[in-house]
Amino acid sequence: MTAQLPRVFVSRQLPEIGLRRLHQSTDCKVWAGSLPPPRDELLASVKGCSGIVSLLSDMIDAEVLDAAGPGLKVVSNFAVGVNNIDLTEAARRGIAVGNTPDVLTDATADIAVALLLAAARHVQPAANSVRSGDWQTWEPTGWLGCDLLGKTLGIIGMGRIGSAVARRLAGGWNMQVLYTSRTEKRLENLPTAKRVSLEELLEKSDFVSLHTDLSAETRGLINRQRLALMKPTAVLVNTSRGGVIDQEALVEALTAGRPMAAGLDVTDPEPLSPDHPLVGLSNCIILPHIGSATIASRNAMAEICVDNLLAGLRGNPLRCPVG
Ligand code: NAP
Ligand code: GLV
Repeated sequence: MTAQLPRVFVSRQLPEIGLRRLHQSTDCKVWAGSLPPPRDELLASVKGCSGIVSLLSDMIDAEVLDAAGPGLKVVSNFAVGVNNIDLTEAARRGIAVGNTPDVLTDATADIAVALLLAAARHVQPAANSVRSGDWQTWEPTGWLGCDLLGKTLGIIGMGRIGSAVARRLAGGWNMQVLYTSRTEKRLENLPTAKRVSLEELLEKSDFVSLHTDLSAETRGLINRQRLALMKPTAVLVNTSRGGVIDQEALVEALTAGRPMAAGLDVTDPEPLSPDHPLVGLSNCIILPHIGSATIASRNAMAEICVDNLLAGLRGNPLRCPVG
């Protein structure tokens, strides 16, 4: 008699490299839609499952854990950020939670730098003017942006991605690095990086890049008062989570031209409605949350995600446990 395979719900098609392994080792139902499962479908689909593979767009809260039932052993998030999971509830029930750190650090840091450059040099509106036929001739004072070389970079959240961004900009553009974090960091590759208060960082930085996780402490961290501290020439970049910025305040600040521009890979909600005021601002470039979107990163995330899931199903320590 063959042993029954553990039931698993996978909330979206993952890269093939991960799906293949899931099909070999579990009795898995993979949500076939290109959009996240609606809430009622999610609740129905997890019923009786021992494992869940979730995406950052799935809210895994007490209701979902209840719907899965007492046999649920592991939630494996296909992301490094786990703000979509109620970690307290999972821990209370003894459910293991895993994430996918490190393998997406470089890809996400590259997108932060791309946004910083694009926002500093008006790349999107300038390119739009070519496509729309509005561009007529080379202009001595057209599309003037700001230089990067030797400027001051402020990193809010000096973790894996924050320090990868700092290394790129300190090494490539000789930027001075200021940073905030709750704990002192040993930054061997960034010997001159200086830990300062959030207020000092905002006042002194020419470029500010957000890299904290989203938590009760960081929600709305960049609010109206703090935006007002930024230089009028500054550029704000966010590849962390949309909720770290008070978006209403950002609309007001960008409309007033202080900071000069913003580059966002993340918003709240995602996607923003096309008629949201941020989308219409020519000094705000918004990407559809593509920080980790390289073939190598997503394949590596799929491998870790499946390793986490299978370990959790067997009651073993996860490869990348959260908490
Ligand atoms: P990480 O290594 O844990 O870095 C997060 C850093 O934030 C930690 O070093 C933490 O340092 C710091 N932090 C937390 N609360 C803070 C606060 N109140 N003030 C200042 N610093 C604070 O995580 P990571 O791998 O770099 O990822 C960071 C986040 O990026 C993820 O949580 C996720 O939301 C986002 N992300 C987005 C994409 C994308 O596609 N756009 C891709 C990957 C990740 P201390 O604990 O010392 O304060
Ligand atoms: C992406 O946003 C992630 O947290 O992995």
